[in-house]
Amino acid sequence: MSTLSNRRILLGITGGIAAYKSAELTRLLVKAGAEVRVVMTQAATEFITPLTLQALSGNRVHTTLLDPEAEAGMGHIELARWPDLVLVAPASANFMARLAEGKADDILTTLVLATKAPIAIAPAMNQAMWSNPATQANLDTLRQRGLQIFGPGSGEQACGDVGLGRMLEPGELLGLSEGLFDKRLLSGLRLVITAGPTQEAIDPVRYISNHSSGKMGYALAAEAAAAGAHVTLISGPVALATPERVRRVEVVSADDMLQACLAHVPTCDIFIGVAAVADYRPQQVAEQKIKKAEDTLSLTLVKNPDIISTIAALEQRPFTVGFAAETIDVTKHGAEKLQRKKLDLLFANDARETLGSDSITATALWADGSQALGPASKRTVAGQMLNLIRQHYDLAGKAS
Ligand code: C5P
Repeated sequence: MSTLSNRRILLGITGGIAAYKSAELTRLLVKAGAEVRVVMTQAATEFITPLTLQALSGNRVHTTLLDPEAEAGMGHIELARWPDLVLVAPASANFMARLAEGKADDILTTLVLATKAPIAIAPAMNQAMWSNPATQANLDTLRQRGLQIFGPGSGEQACGDVGLGRMLEPGELLGLSEGLFDKRLLSGLRLVITAGPTQEAIDPVRYISNHSSGKMGYALAAEAAAAGAHVTLISGPVALATPERVRRVEVVSADDMLQACLAHVPTCDIFIGVAAVADYRPQQVAEQKIKKAEDTLSLTLVKNPDIISTIAALEQRPFTVGFAAETIDVTKHGAEKLQRKKLDLLFANDARETLGSDSITATALWADGSQALGPASKRTVAGQMLNLIRQHYDLAGKAS
């Protein structure tokens, strides 16, 4: 069942060509079980008729602030108290400016000012209008006031331009609205998780690797998706099925893994490096299979990039969580890695007990604390780890 079932949604529509998509949005919201009341600015009525929205929402559409008929039924203050969510889609540049100024010069701005419900806007405008510093300043103001900003997307625009400013598609807006009512541990958060070993080629048929099974990373991905997160799992070669609702990106070498991480990290909130990345790779990969000849064979190995340190050093870094599989002084080495790699949180464990096993004992380490986890199944411990990650992610947000 949709989280919007029985929710009251006040859908505001402002004047923009994307207003035609609001008809489909209304249909989707109603189909998800929401009760929808539509409020349109005068400009919006130039793009789509109130009658269409009335037919789709099953409710009278409000277009003017002082409408004797409407005030006799549901007046604007009553209407402001009615919704569980105010969603304005499309939100024009002009509407955002009026909102930022705190104006109440038509029915929609008045409602937004008077309501105590959460407010989400889906900006839609020409790309130059969107990137204009005036619009960006208004956006910052609205964001700071706690408004949810849905999009915009980028692509071809009605005016022929290409760029940021397209209203998100109705299905995407529906999903984001559902997310606002989703109270699961990680709802709406975007996670990138690395898992498994990497393989470093020696020649076309041989490689250097390790015993990592990928089980811990896959357990975390499965638990995180079940807790409402959008999960991208960047995985080295393993024999495990992709968990439900997880996007899996397959890689082979450490270099591949780094490239995949750099491509996905800019749009993620939390990065968890579980992968057992090979620390070294052969300096040269032989083009042909190396023939058996001498009694000894020497390979020169060069250091691989440290993926998690690279991510943690990014200017716009996500909340970064690492793992440390050690064979001696587990906690001591873990604490040293937490510091050296500039991580927010690290889970240290004994490699000999953990590798390939279905269970794990670990110690969670952060700048000024620690907590023992397990022994328990990797799936159970994954849930405990995600609880800690969520707590510390929230704390880091408050601190910054
Ligand atoms: O240094 P060590 O390999 O013990 O560090 C383990 C942590 O660093 C794990 O989170 C692992 O995914 C990450 N790592 C990495 N790139 C490497 C080596 C390790 O991201 N080349």
